Amino acid sequence: MTPHQKRLLLPIAVLAFGFLALVGTAIFIVSGGGERGHVATVGGPFTLVDQSGARVTEASYAGKPSLVFFGFTHCPDVCPTTLFEISEVLKRLPEGAKVSALFVTVDPERDTPTSMKDYLSSFDPRISGLSGTREEIDAVLKAYRVYSKKVPTQNGDYTMDHTAIVYLMDKQGRFVNALNLQQPPEAAAREVQRLL
Ligand code: NI
Repeated sequence: MTPHQKRLLLPIAVLAFGFLALVGTAIFIVSGGGERGHVATVGGPFTLVDQSGARVTEASYAGKPSLVFFGFTHCPDVCPTTLFEISEVLKRLPEGAKVSALFVTVDPERDTPTSMKDYLSSFDPRISGLSGTREEIDAVLKAYRVYSKKVPTQNGDYTMDHTAIVYLMDKQGRFVNALNLQQPPEAAAREVQRLL
């Protein structure tokens, strides 16, 4: 080996090592970096309070497909419209169909069980209005990957920006898809009925 070849060996070794480290990192990232199975999960356990003041968990609604929607009672447009549409879907399900519909507040400071009860009296009585402590709500928002943000208004009050997806969950509590409410309520009801 000439001195020239020897001088080349070290940089080659460094390059080869660097390349292997990069490949290893890429494989680690692609495989989920040890967080496998965590990636596509939507939903999960929760502890909240319904509009009658009763403590509820995911087990309270087990064995039934469910529609889960996040919003707040002071919402000027999206929430009342969506709750009206959900009510229309529920009305079109077969008599006695075991389906849960959950309206979870993103604004627990204002949405107490009492205000949830008053607000929901305008909609289908099968809709459960779920509230809780800030921590309990934050946990369920995280589980469902819901975005929500307090936005101050001019009068010193505030409104909430929030994800307005209606999560369709199966009997096992697994996320199926976002329920499309742009379609006629009969068609949306059929989507829910398939999970019964
Ligand atoms: Ni809203």
